[in-house]
Amino acid sequence: MCGIVAYVGAEKAGPILFDTLKRLEYRGYDSAGIAMRSNGDLLVLKSAGRISELEKAYLTQGSPGDCMGIGHTRWATHGRPSDDNAHPHTSGDIAIVHNGIIENYLELRERLFDLGYRFSSETDSEVLAHLINHHFRGDLAEAVSEAISEVEGSYALAVLSSRSSAVVCARKDSPLVIGVGLGCNYVASDVPALLPYTREVVRLRDGELAIIHRGQLEIKDLSGRPVAYLMEHIDWDVDAAEKGGYSHFMLKEIHEQPRALQETMAGRISEIGGDVMIDLGFSDDEVRKIQRVCIVACGTSYHAGLLARYLFLRAAGLPVDVEVASEFQHQQMRPETLLVAISQSGETADTLQALKKASPCGIRCIAITNVVGSTVTNLVDGTIYTRCGPEIGVAATKTFTSQLAALILLGIRLGRARGHISPDKARKMLVEFSRLPGFVQEVLDEREKIREIAEQYAGSSTYFFIGRDYLYPIALEGALKMKEIAYIPAEGYAGGELKHGPLALITDGTPVVALATCGKKIQSNIKEVRARGAELIAIVERGDPNIGKVASTVIELPPAMPILSAVLCTVTLQLLSYYTALKLGREIDKPRNLAKSVTVE
Ligand code: M6R
Repeated sequence: MCGIVAYVGAEKAGPILFDTLKRLEYRGYDSAGIAMRSNGDLLVLKSAGRISELEKAYLTQGSPGDCMGIGHTRWATHGRPSDDNAHPHTSGDIAIVHNGIIENYLELRERLFDLGYRFSSETDSEVLAHLINHHFRGDLAEAVSEAISEVEGSYALAVLSSRSSAVVCARKDSPLVIGVGLGCNYVASDVPALLPYTREVVRLRDGELAIIHRGQLEIKDLSGRPVAYLMEHIDWDVDAAEKGGYSHFMLKEIHEQPRALQETMAGRISEIGGDVMIDLGFSDDEVRKIQRVCIVACGTSYHAGLLARYLFLRAAGLPVDVEVASEFQHQQMRPETLLVAISQSGETADTLQALKKASPCGIRCIAITNVVGSTVTNLVDGTIYTRCGPEIGVAATKTFTSQLAALILLGIRLGRARGHISPDKARKMLVEFSRLPGFVQEVLDEREKIREIAEQYAGSSTYFFIGRDYLYPIALEGALKMKEIAYIPAEGYAGGELKHGPLALITDGTPVVALATCGKKIQSNIKEVRARGAELIAIVERGDPNIGKVASTVIELPPAMPILSAVLCTVTLQLLSYYTALKLGREIDKPRNLAKSVTVE
């Protein structure tokens, strides 16, 4: 996730671009850049690091530039944070800023290279600059329209040229808002950045081009026909706007999951070939020699690892050990072991330490992380980025479900390379998998019902979560969330384990959340707790005829494959803990005693 901005007006563009960019810094902050018209030419300033650093350099140069420009704050997905990879990217006198992922960039890059274009970054975005330049014959909007018709993927795009008096913007599956001022117009990835300047906004829709002049705004479709647009008046306050209208970052991030999952999958699935395209950093011959997988991680990321234990055995025939990183003891691992480190931040000291302990064993290592260029990526052969954009709330939400998605991709990738699953079976799984973002949206649409349940049980002194198979790690994660943000003591158990001790704690009115979307055996565990007076909150597949009879409360989810159902149960439990914490007045985004990134052992 990145932030893009633009300005066309009567004032110097630089200060406005920096100010609006800083308001988008929550979308990413590893590099920044601006491009402006300057005495009939283009002037580009960009660098790795924070926006404030770049702004200092701009001021030192005497605040150059005219009254029209574009800007970008980056959260790296393709290519590490560096000066070259920072946006804007240029081609001739065209500069672009891009938020999204160009899925067919390798193919486009090759074609443009053959046409004589040279690349100075590792990004997918740079192809857009060259492609627009390639199509530019005097009308910038036409060139943008022709270029994007060749692009697969997602984009919010702002384009500047010293030969055009308008900035041209386009979008597909990435947000873009135009702020309409008096004699000037603004662009930003999100409304908050615009509020100090204007409260009149137009939200660009997929398949539309905005041609933004100083005092005029034109919106067209891709074939150049004018499109009527709706101007919206924003009456939120700035604080709410920073969270996109949500009351907390956690709630915003929970709602970002359909999009985050799409980003994790983008360009990695071949439904036709029945395979997953991920470079592991070593050959498929080596993949075939792997006999065991060891996963190291902490907290929520550890729960993602536990789910992979079931998945990798089924999809790739590989037994998996999952270790809490701080307890990692396998210093004598056999060479045919694959080590997978999972860490959303890529900076968790316990996980980094475990990787270092394992490195003398000469084994292959993979990281799954959300942060490009984070320390973990320097300690492994290959990295799978989850690409969900920065997560501000301390509680991991979208990073967890994206880790699950990355593990599903990795499981299928390993299974296909090892011949454990057929292309046909993989294809079926992938087709179903690509429906996951839509299923997650259906769960989010049920939030009011989940809120009522959360409020009903918010006074409980303890909570239990039970699940079996893929749903056991999710029960653990549900309990962790309830402890972490609502401060209610909560236990997650494998359904079959209750009778071996914890059942003694179930008394009249104890809320037990049973994850019952798949598998019949959980039903006997449900009966066990009901017989002890528990209040049963059952999470079931829509249309389940049985559980309604024994549960106090039922939450229905869309029917899905068991592994996908695990993701849907996760989202339900995130909402349950969020609304419980809200009812109890907790400090949700910054729970007591915790930190987003734990860099001490
Ligand atoms: O950045 P990491 O994924 O390595 O962090 C590991 C844990 O600290 C983290 O998952 C923690 O448990 C979550 N913030 C809980 O929501």
